[in-house]
Amino acid sequence: MSKKVLVVLAHDDMKISRVNKRLVQELESCDNIEVRDIKALYPDYKIDIEAEQEAIKKADKVVFQFPMFWFNAPSILKEWMDKVYSLGFAFDVTQDGYQRRELDGREFMLAVSMGGHEAAYDGDYKSVDECLTPYIYTAKFCGMKVVEPFYTYRAMQNLSDEKLEALAPQFKEAILK
Ligand SMILES: Cc1cc2nc3c(=O)[nH]c(=O)nc-3n(C[C@H](O)[C@H](O)[C@H](O)COP(=O)(O)O)c2cc1C
Repeated sequence: MSKKVLVVLAHDDMKISRVNKRLVQELESCDNIEVRDIKALYPDYKIDIEAEQEAIKKADKVVFQFPMFWFNAPSILKEWMDKVYSLGFAFDVTQDGYQRRELDGREFMLAVSMGGHEAAYDGDYKSVDECLTPYIYTAKFCGMKVVEPFYTYRAMQNLSDEKLEALAPQFKEAILK
């Protein structure tokens, strides 16, 4: 049976996106992938918690896709996570301690585009993983299996259209893996 994937797309404005727009376009024809552009769905940040939780329940794998903004995700994703990964849904606190709930056992993947190049994240800034530990640690805390991320570098200018075209099918393959 094919894997069902939920892509939580957290771009500030997909109308002005080049990289994430092209990557997500590659997923359009795939029935097993649901893409939720959360900034378009919730421009006022009023997240429909139930709808988002239902989308997670249907998925074997949850992907957070976003452009790196100041060594973090765009703020809508933090709001989404704070509201959707609620007590009772993501975990419970019982007399025996924390109990994992709906996220337990699902896969978690980061798909992030960086304006910076690879070398920048191996020098001044230690690594993309280090920047994004809150997302990785939250997934682990909730019992998710963190799988290999898909990181795209030089997304502001040095990534040519040809390279982006070549990346798009690789992205889809990684999402469905
Ligand atoms: C507010 C803002 C903050 C950014 N911060 C970073 C950053 O910390 N590190 C980085 O590598 N790129 C940074 N960038 C560049 C974006 O990550 C880059 O423009 C984006 O990945 C391109 O994807 P898109 O074509 O889908 O918009 C920033 C861009 C903006 C607008």
